[in-house]
Amino acid sequence: MLSYRHAFHAGNFADIFKHVLLLQLLQALRRKDKPFCVLDTHAGAGRYDLHSTAAIKNRESADGIGRLWNQPDLGPELNEYRTQVRALNPDGELRNYPGSPRLIRALLRPNDRLILTELHPGDYRLLKTEFAGDRSVAVHHADGYASLKAFLPPAERRGLVFIDPAFELRDEFDRLLEAVQVIHRRWAGGMMALWYPILDRAPSLRWQRALQELAIPAMLVTELGIQPYDALFGLHGCGMVIVNPPWQLDEILKRLLPELLQKLRVGESGQTCLEWLTPAP
Ligand SMILES: C[S@@+](CC[C@H](N)C(=O)[O-])C[C@H]1O[C@@H](n2cnc3c(N)ncnc32)[C@H](O)[C@@H]1O
Repeated sequence: MLSYRHAFHAGNFADIFKHVLLLQLLQALRRKDKPFCVLDTHAGAGRYDLHSTAAIKNRESADGIGRLWNQPDLGPELNEYRTQVRALNPDGELRNYPGSPRLIRALLRPNDRLILTELHPGDYRLLKTEFAGDRSVAVHHADGYASLKAFLPPAERRGLVFIDPAFELRDEFDRLLEAVQVIHRRWAGGMMALWYPILDRAPSLRWQRALQELAIPAMLVTELGIQPYDALFGLHGCGMVIVNPPWQLDEILKRLLPELLQKLRVGESGQTCLEWLTPAP
């Protein structure tokens, strides 16, 4: 039973974190002429109306993209991200928010490809409509984990698997661990980006230790905590594990993470993390 709908959370601080990083990964793929393929396993609806009933329920975007919308002094990565959001809002009023599929699509070149899987029937229908007639994008009503074997490795042999689960299920970290092994076995050179929430920090730390034990090289973990990790309520932060990150992404993050923290933190609290779980070869 799927009850999670991303429309309630679109444009919140966690979306900013994951989407700014996603754009950095795509920019790195664009540095070479050879075509690439992106598989977005948990695609969501593709774009979101921030004036919808779902979005205004908790107004999560107000403390996310809302905080950046009119900021005069954004660094290059946040500025590039905001430019992509502005492209969906040509009159200057923040209303439409791009999900990961829209952001990825914006950075595809004519020979690059995007494969999307989404399990929720409602969001799948919206996604299908969003990309109707777009020959660069394939949309599947399918389980993203179960689809890995069908779609990997892609013919291009360059690209990214982006996994952004809803974390509705108790075994989501186990599923992610299994997914990393499947992807690595089929496509050791592919880039992976795996998003996770931080509520209680212990499960994500256990998962990171388990990832280390796989001994797959070049795993970078980065986190943004907008509240102390031991805060009592809510989503305190989120993180991303990136396997085979682009060259110098860690250097970019050293500059970007403090800026994200400063712009998105709750009061004066919060923290960031950047660590190699396994070294690059
Ligand atoms: C966090 S949202 C994705 C947001 C999207 N990646 C973005 O950045 O705009 C997670 C999505 O995964 C979908 N989902 C849950 N389990 C899934 C599965 N096993 N395979 C594919 N999609 C799934 C949910 O319906 C939800 O739309």
